[in-house]
Amino acid sequence: METKYAVKNIERKKDYLGIIWGDNFKSKFHFLWLRDNCPSAIHPIANMRIFNILTVSNKIYPKEFKIYNHKLNINWSENNHNSQFELKWLRDHCYTEINNKKYITPYKFWDGSLKKKFNKIKLNYDKIIKNDKYLIEWLRLLHTYGFAIVKNSPTRKKSGFKILNRISHHRETFFGTPFEVINIPKPNNTAYTAQALRNHTDLPYFEYAPGYQFLHCLINDAKGGKSSVVDGFAVANFLRKKEKEVFKILTNTYVKFKDTDYTQKAVRILHSPIITLTKDKDFNDIRFSMAAMGAIDINPSKMKKFYDAYQRFASLLQNNKFKINFRLEAGDIFCFNNRRVLHGRTEFDPNSGNRHLQGYYIERDEIVARLNYFNNIKV
Ligand SMILES: [Fe+2]
Repeated sequence: METKYAVKNIERKKDYLGIIWGDNFKSKFHFLWLRDNCPSAIHPIANMRIFNILTVSNKIYPKEFKIYNHKLNINWSENNHNSQFELKWLRDHCYTEINNKKYITPYKFWDGSLKKKFNKIKLNYDKIIKNDKYLIEWLRLLHTYGFAIVKNSPTRKKSGFKILNRISHHRETFFGTPFEVINIPKPNNTAYTAQALRNHTDLPYFEYAPGYQFLHCLINDAKGGKSSVVDGFAVANFLRKKEKEVFKILTNTYVKFKDTDYTQKAVRILHSPIITLTKDKDFNDIRFSMAAMGAIDINPSKMKKFYDAYQRFASLLQNNKFKINFRLEAGDIFCFNNRRVLHGRTEFDPNSGNRHLQGYYIERDEIVARLNYFNNIKV
């Protein structure tokens, strides 16, 4: 048993047990937390809590407690209940230690210079299909860079499902799955034209915008239609460091996103900041689409400053310092975190050849949950 899992001293305080471990680290374990996490509170197969917190009072305390055989034994003051905690489990779930640790972001920001190291984010289709090692590498790239290109995939229609199912199920939307990125005569979305698309995130008017997007290139013989990609988190991080006022406005101002697709009997409206943060002040998501922006309805006293900040962010998202241009080839699957990485394309000439992509969405949860599984994360 490692020193950190041995107990040097244990003491009852007013509302918690204080433990000093073999490595001198001091933990606090509050009474209700301990009772709530008694191993008997968890269903042995379903691994879910069966204990009801309302069956004890907030006055509960350990009548007796002792360390025996690498376990903490507690005899509780209520319901004649005993708990036995593995010391290793307690230390591994010590919330004093968890909250002492400095948060480290899982994200690696990138800019236009990634183009020089483009091979770093390319993976082979067959390898991912056949070998978990490459599946894990794909997931890791998606989570850290938010961007990867799968090469040499089959170009049959709907064949993207096979590789996506290596991760999990897809996210359905009103566009259907896969959605067809092809120019059509009466487009219900500008993606279905031959026009240029400025860098954007998809479906920003959804309360929960799709986490990842996979654009599977079946054919790209048309002139033009170059793809562009930019790390929205990297641009936001630049603003956080260099232009604090702009950053503050983009994280605090609730602006209107909307969708009035004529094929839907639905009007979608969502107010959200363009940049949102997590509890650790890391980046949560970017919502950015000039096409899906509603008529902004913020207080007049804030309008001028908001537009200055919005325009500044928009210009950085198109700036060569940050963005990468590349050409998708038949068999490529362009994969990106849709709530981080923005994508776009240049205009193409539909009379010069065919261009057909099929798009799929997957939730961000699925990528992270699969990585946790492969990393053997226990909770
Ligand atoms: Fe898009």
